[in-house]
Amino acid sequence: MPHNTGVNRRAFLQNAGMTAVLGAIGTGTSPASAAVSAMLEPPTGKYDFDTVFNRVGTDCIKYDQQLRTYGKDSVAVGMGIADMDFKAAPCIAKAIAERCAHENWGYLDTPRSYIDAIVNWNKRRYGVDINPDLLVLTTGVHPGLIAALQTFSPPGSRVLLTSPTYNGFYPDLKFTRTLPADSPMKVVDGRYSIDFDDFERRISHDTNTFILCNPQNPTGNCWSPEDLTRIGEICLRRRVIVLADEIHCDFVTKGQKYTPFSSLPNKDIVRNSITFKAASKSFSLAAMKAAWFFSDNPDLIARVKANTRADLTTLGMVANRAALNEGEDWLDQLLVYLDANHTFAEQFIKANVPLVSCVKPQGTYLLWLDISKVMERVGAKRLAEEASKTSPTPVSPEQAMERWFVKHAKVHLNAGSTYGTGGEGHMRMNVATSRKMLELALNNIAAALQNPETSMA
Ligand SMILES: Cc1ncc(COP(=O)(O)O)c(C=O)c1O
Repeated sequence: MPHNTGVNRRAFLQNAGMTAVLGAIGTGTSPASAAVSAMLEPPTGKYDFDTVFNRVGTDCIKYDQQLRTYGKDSVAVGMGIADMDFKAAPCIAKAIAERCAHENWGYLDTPRSYIDAIVNWNKRRYGVDINPDLLVLTTGVHPGLIAALQTFSPPGSRVLLTSPTYNGFYPDLKFTRTLPADSPMKVVDGRYSIDFDDFERRISHDTNTFILCNPQNPTGNCWSPEDLTRIGEICLRRRVIVLADEIHCDFVTKGQKYTPFSSLPNKDIVRNSITFKAASKSFSLAAMKAAWFFSDNPDLIARVKANTRADLTTLGMVANRAALNEGEDWLDQLLVYLDANHTFAEQFIKANVPLVSCVKPQGTYLLWLDISKVMERVGAKRLAEEASKTSPTPVSPEQAMERWFVKHAKVHLNAGSTYGTGGEGHMRMNVATSRKMLELALNNIAAALQNPETSMA
């Protein structure tokens, strides 16, 4: 396993077998990216997000799973699964090291200090008052959502979603043997909004739950208080419980605002909801397996709690507590960096990749790319038909494009077709990486699309 310490990008790419690519693109700073970089303010602050952090060889999904799937040296920049490439906040390593000095790993009695850390974080950052008696710990947002679905939505019933939406919800529905009711969002010039007439029409006699994603993965929308109130009114009137997944809430771009569903002034609406959150996106602690959910409604919480079993891990608890108590300045500096990454990516694509369109999201570190023109150009439908011949499951045109971007740009993106109705013609790009890696990915994509041979292959 490589030493997982900061390495320069050349060493990283050599390690990943990317010497040839590196040679071809020089330092990764093309005239195109230099022009866009010049618009950004120089990095400041106490934490280093610029140094490329090598994750290859650590069994991570973002790199290692892709290298196993597509082959050695196939992927230079992993931009798929939603975790970040940065070295974690120093307070986390410190807390883990201190706990590791005590070499015993017996059963954990969850300390009150961890609950306090969660309650204080939500109060401090968002003014949300969580009643600790109505707070439930879980090992992830997925286990929490699954427990809620098992509580409220019997097998065979419908779960309302506004799509495109986080692709991980669909396996949760499959697991609970419930069925998706996608309400496709309206899209004008790349901006998504909820079609409220459609939203209400999709609610049938067996729709008991709606999974809200705020900020929305993959479009990045931060829902306004008006949107949330309208959602809440419809769901309350139609007796649909709102399961508010707010795992991405700490990521909001400049000038935008996240509104917690639980902060809405209408308390009847709030009492008809459960909020699911974690520090795992904010501090890249996804494999530390810790999350929580809460409500103002003791009845809802008691019912879901009865279906919840969470065995937290010692290191997961230690890492999360340290992040919530001491990681705030790291996160605040990171948000500035990610905002600049978003601006960089949007401007670069506008200037250099005319076949792709996107708009800077309001939240999340995800960028939703409209690649329908690329798909037409390269014949994605035909590529999908070809790939389907040798695949155990049908390959969608967007999944064929996932392979295409790996083959021609050495960049791994997520296929839009997995995000439900409305995901066609799109890919999701994760920009939570060092600027150099982002530049490399964008330069590679631009080059692949400018090359008459690859752009037709
Ligand atoms: C909207 C959303 N919910 C939940 C998750 C996963 O949650 P967890 O890892 O806590 O189960 C993700 C991960 O990408 C996500 O984007």
